[in-house]
Amino acid sequence: MSAPRFFFATSRRARVRDAALGPMAAWLDADPHRGRPLPADRPGLVLDGRGLCLHAPGRKAQLWHPGLAHRRLQLAVDPLVRVLDLRPGDRVLDGTLGFGHDALVLAAAGADVLALEVFAPLLAFTLAGLSGYHPAGRRIHARRADHADFLAAQPDGAFDHVYLDPMFPPAEAGVSNTWSALRTFALGPRLPPAVLRDALRVARRTLVVKLAPGEPPPALPGAPGATVEGSKRVHYGVWRVANRAPDAA
Ligand SMILES: C[S@@+](CC[C@H](N)C(=O)[O-])C[C@H]1O[C@@H](n2cnc3c(N)ncnc32)[C@H](O)[C@@H]1O
Repeated sequence: MSAPRFFFATSRRARVRDAALGPMAAWLDADPHRGRPLPADRPGLVLDGRGLCLHAPGRKAQLWHPGLAHRRLQLAVDPLVRVLDLRPGDRVLDGTLGFGHDALVLAAAGADVLALEVFAPLLAFTLAGLSGYHPAGRRIHARRADHADFLAAQPDGAFDHVYLDPMFPPAEAGVSNTWSALRTFALGPRLPPAVLRDALRVARRTLVVKLAPGEPPPALPGAPGATVEGSKRVHYGVWRVANRAPDAA
């Protein structure tokens, strides 16, 4: 399976000149779509009178929303913040931005977050949503990149923590959500060993991988095993890095 091509469309209420559609779509690395109906078999981004709307096959179109991050921001200590033993000013690489919920929780806890997202339309959707929702959202630095390429180019210990939340494998996905709709367009193996090995090398203190319910942490030959930590509801595979020279970045 190959990565999806998003479409990009506007509605009349967005008041975008027809001539601007092509350049905007090109900037988003998406295919411009004029007129209706909208494609039902591929993901897309639509700029309408309310803002950017995400379309995923088989799902209702959605505006960005904070989801559970809304409640997580009110917790004394969020499970992910606890697992990372996060200190204000820690540099975190979030290799899978998605809707930015985890990145937002980490930024609100004082982390300096750089987040990567492989799909430009999702990056635009999430950055627009985050910036209007919470002041910490404006402190998240994000860019379009494949985390495999980005990690391979980083020096050892470049970030205090590396966090990866890949889409769950279909068999373990459980409830249907936007990710399950997007997952039908697989990006390839979930977390190839080479990516994990680079992530561990780039993490100065902690590598954390979000796990599907009941999923064991991925094996990393030659590296110490991960512990499973988190809460009753959410599980993380955690590798704590010992004896890395400080601030190799
Ligand atoms: C399950 S979502 C992450 C959800 C996110 N943690 C949150 O709190 O909203 C996974 C995201 O990672 C992105 N992704 C998948 N493979 C990637 C890669 N190789 N590099 C960068 N982003 C990737 C997907 O497009 C998707 O947006």
